[in-house]
Amino acid sequence: MLIEKNIQGGSALTRLPNGLVCFVEGALPGESVEVEIIEQKKDFAKAVISKILSPHEKRRIPPCPYYGKCGGCNAQHAEFELQIEILQQIVFDLFLRIAKLNLPQNFKIHSGNQWNYRQRAQVFKTNNDKIPWGFLERASNNVVPIEKCFVLSEKINQKLNEKSNFKKLYLFDNQSEKFLGKHIHADETVFFQSNLEMLSKLIDFVKDAAGEGAMLLDIFSGAGLFSAFLQDKFESVLAVEENPICQKFAKKNLNANCKFYAESAENFFSRNSLDLSKACVIIDPPRPGLTNNLCNFLCKAKIQKLIYVSCNPATLARDTRKFLNAGYKLANIHGFAFYPQTFHLEMLAEFNF
Ligand SMILES: C[S@@+](CC[C@H](N)C(=O)[O-])C[C@H]1O[C@@H](n2cnc3c(N)ncnc32)[C@H](O)[C@@H]1O
Repeated sequence: MLIEKNIQGGSALTRLPNGLVCFVEGALPGESVEVEIIEQKKDFAKAVISKILSPHEKRRIPPCPYYGKCGGCNAQHAEFELQIEILQQIVFDLFLRIAKLNLPQNFKIHSGNQWNYRQRAQVFKTNNDKIPWGFLERASNNVVPIEKCFVLSEKINQKLNEKSNFKKLYLFDNQSEKFLGKHIHADETVFFQSNLEMLSKLIDFVKDAAGEGAMLLDIFSGAGLFSAFLQDKFESVLAVEENPICQKFAKKNLNANCKFYAESAENFFSRNSLDLSKACVIIDPPRPGLTNNLCNFLCKAKIQKLIYVSCNPATLARDTRKFLNAGYKLANIHGFAFYPQTFHLEMLAEFNF
């Protein structure tokens, strides 16, 4: 069976002799493999590799001893360079299929260290006296005891030895919130990016895209991360975030020219009528992307500078199509490899009206 390509999430796509689409775990583009079907549906099948007949030249032996069992990583069998090539292909395909848009050939995925990059993690108590913490197995609630994880920072790895009676723990390397010359206040109870090296790079791009001006709206602001780096460039900053816990951190992170609204974006816009045509608006929604209502509202607002940070290229592609239909132009688009050894990434798209 010839593997055509990888799709979002990392599964590889091939076709069975009867033409049925088949998703193969752990295969790489161009490989010839023998497979064992593990699930057969009307429209597609799922399979695992039984034999690799011709491996990709950038296939490697996964360095981590827990790989395949632990549900954390699913791309270690590809050299990092190939992981980036695959991510690029996945994003191109999603934009072509969902946004009906050919991304520019120079679309780039920026990357950093492939190991020891995670500064936060959720770990689960094991039944093992010697190895107290672990990660969940793939698609299961079983805990795999982990002594050392190759993608966690050294500091977080040291915390894996600590004993506690809790069933699960959020490990957060709070020494490392200092970056790009600022100390950002946040803790494990609120959203905060886990890869600070890549976050610095993303923030540089967000700062470049935002420039300066009268009003900045930071929607889905979390603890006010983007606002903290842009507040000196805008006369007034409005940060909107529905998680009320973020407020105490935003108070520390933001200056007097910033106002924090602890409410949903939908609520905020229904209560305030603002002329956004000259504003810079940053949106950074969770994986489902924008709700229909919010997307339609932003389409109609004809915003001069709309910066969309996304952790899901499929929903970004969907919302991009809506913005393009509404008359926005896609000025720039970049990918950022925040989660090496997985097929996830962050994206930044800059729209102008
Ligand atoms: C991907 S995080 C981004 C946070 C922040 N921009 C950062 O980089 O640290 C998305 C944030 O949106 C918040 N959120 C989710 N749905 C929301 C909504 N409808 N309105 C406002 N905030 C929302 C979540 O609580 C979360 O903090």
